[in-house]
Amino acid sequence: MTRPLYLALPLLFATLSPAAGDETSERIEAILSKLTLEEKLGQLRLVDGHAGGGWKPQHMALAQAGVLGGTFNVRGTGPTSEMQRAALATRHKIPLVFAFDVIHGYRTIFPVPLGEAASWDPDLAERCTAVAAKEARSANVSWTFAPVADIARDPRWGRIVEGSGEDPVLSSAFTAARVRGFQGKDISAPDRMMACLKHFAGSGEAEGGRDYNFADVSVRALRETHFPPFLAGLKAGAGSIMPSFSAIDGVPATSNPWLLQDVLRKEWGFGGVVVSDYDAVGQLVNHRVSPDWPEAGQIALRAGLDMEIWGSCLMQAEGLLDDAADLKLVDDAVRRVLRMKFQLGLFDKPFGDAAREKEAILHPDHLKLAREAAAKSCVLLKNSDNTLPIPPTAKKIAIVGPMADDKATLLGSWTGDGRPEDAVTLVEAVRQRLGDTGTVIHSSAGSTSGFSFRKPSDGVEAAKDADYVLVVIGEAGDMTGEATSKSSLDLPQPQLDLVQKVHSLGKPYAVILMTGRPLTATWLAETCPAILLSWYGGTMGGPGIADVLFGDVNPSGKLPVTFPRSVGQIPLTYNSTPTSRPLVESDKWTSKYTDIKNSPLWAFGHGLSYTSFQISPPLLETRTVPRDGSVRFQVSVTNQGERDGDEVVQVYIRDEVSLVTRPVKELKAFKRVSVPAGKNVVVDFEIPAKDLGCWTPQGKYLIEPGTFTLMTGGNSTQVKTASFSLE
Ligand code: GLC
Repeated sequence: MTRPLYLALPLLFATLSPAAGDETSERIEAILSKLTLEEKLGQLRLVDGHAGGGWKPQHMALAQAGVLGGTFNVRGTGPTSEMQRAALATRHKIPLVFAFDVIHGYRTIFPVPLGEAASWDPDLAERCTAVAAKEARSANVSWTFAPVADIARDPRWGRIVEGSGEDPVLSSAFTAARVRGFQGKDISAPDRMMACLKHFAGSGEAEGGRDYNFADVSVRALRETHFPPFLAGLKAGAGSIMPSFSAIDGVPATSNPWLLQDVLRKEWGFGGVVVSDYDAVGQLVNHRVSPDWPEAGQIALRAGLDMEIWGSCLMQAEGLLDDAADLKLVDDAVRRVLRMKFQLGLFDKPFGDAAREKEAILHPDHLKLAREAAAKSCVLLKNSDNTLPIPPTAKKIAIVGPMADDKATLLGSWTGDGRPEDAVTLVEAVRQRLGDTGTVIHSSAGSTSGFSFRKPSDGVEAAKDADYVLVVIGEAGDMTGEATSKSSLDLPQPQLDLVQKVHSLGKPYAVILMTGRPLTATWLAETCPAILLSWYGGTMGGPGIADVLFGDVNPSGKLPVTFPRSVGQIPLTYNSTPTSRPLVESDKWTSKYTDIKNSPLWAFGHGLSYTSFQISPPLLETRTVPRDGSVRFQVSVTNQGERDGDEVVQVYIRDEVSLVTRPVKELKAFKRVSVPAGKNVVVDFEIPAKDLGCWTPQGKYLIEPGTFTLMTGGNSTQVKTASFSLE
């Protein structure tokens, strides 16, 4: 048997701490040499502002005393300038950095990240985050705690909404695109900001899907599944990274020297800033790895942390930092923070520009892009008898359900500076669209509020003489995001009752599902003729969804996560390993449940269109591929329908025999293609052999010779295959 090739992955980055002697380094050393230890520790501290963007008096005092590195939440030319003037009046005159969670938009809110990932269009994500950066920087926010690079495989974990789903390749593409969108080529530009990859690493593996919980994940699984999006983000130039709240293999990420030094600094050569999560240093006491906050500060510093947000443990550690090694750690952390501030241009332009802010916020071009993104993120889950799009003959359209006119829900969670009053609901969008050519019947069918749904008033009465009914149901926008773990993924019974009543009318109807996580919508899938998953579409969610419902936009979204039939199936992903006894329906003694199918309700990569596409098997250039070469092939896509449309060609591989148990299929490439009605498009693919490897338990990256199966399709289950041999 040909021996496997172990690929020593090259150091990914020339260490980003630039050669000594460059002008910035000289300026940094000059500043550092004049700082007291207290002032140095102050630079490692970020404090929060009010939710509305103002600063807190106790934090203004820290800025005036010259012991503050920056803030998060403080935003807008006014409040930031007031704090900045205080900082620049201090002895050292070091400007503050203003950070904020710009996760899916600043004031113009785009679809939630998981929804945006359903577009399988990284270029769209790059354009959306570029707009977010432009609006945020105009408000003098130059650092965002985004993109979320977490791989999430458990929809009980509400933060699944913040990332790009369950797959490393898809998540890597979106993470890198969002970093490029935020940072551009120069983060000192007036329309760019520094990105921060989070939450490093494996936080999506929180046990039980319960936020902040222990993440029992092997190093091999970290390397195979959870690290790739972070690596992709760092390769795209991300300037900072945030460790997760979780403990990895018993060691909190915030104070994990293996994670923050051996992997991040030594193996990957990262030279940027490592900033803690909210009070995560103080929470080392909760993890019971520190007796108190001062020691927590010292432990985190020694593990490789540079900055702390919200807490003051690093400051409180001052009395413990009495040896040269600790003091050097402080100096190196301050160097990285000062370099970040120089790279952001804060020493030259520390203030915002009110005119620029006014011009940028909610610019019509931004809203237009938000509408495009909302439409592209929609996934058509079911459409029997071509129930959708709504026929032009439908003049009386009833819209019922608790989400139909809920502005806040459209924004989802982590809404930045977004405001519900900016959002356009589906009811408003359909009314605008029909004008006086039709009638929208909308019952004020209650509204969602937080975690509970008031029983939607019976909108069905209003629907009785409608031509077409839209039922808008799902979860409230604040039911996913941080601290929103749930033990059940079922829809509330009142919503199912509403759908049942509409169903009983015997009229054409469609369900619009608003959610930030997979739901076990099994009854819905069996009962309803058409289901459109809209996620939370953002400020222009209503118009975007309406564009799809009326057929102006042919839906092309594909699921970035698996929808299980039952919460009991979790974790359930497309890329599971074969097990010792793969499922045989007729054989009891194989890997399955006695009370439910193994298959998901809707699979990763699933999404329908108003037309139909035929995708060919991979047409291989050669059947043998050298390990230092690439596998090249073409895929032919035919639009068999009468509508133009976009299809996402997905490419999966399977290593038929390998040293470790590898997934039954692994996404390795994808491309969106536009195919006119009745036409055919040929798509070229090239996958480097080095991307076909796997990680061993010994921490080696391995490219093995042998037979690989290549799979192509419009989702992860209906695929066509070809085989090749890696030499
Ligand atoms: C939160 C989140 C993190 C966020 C930070 C600052 O707890 O875990 O994602 O960036 O605090 O708001």
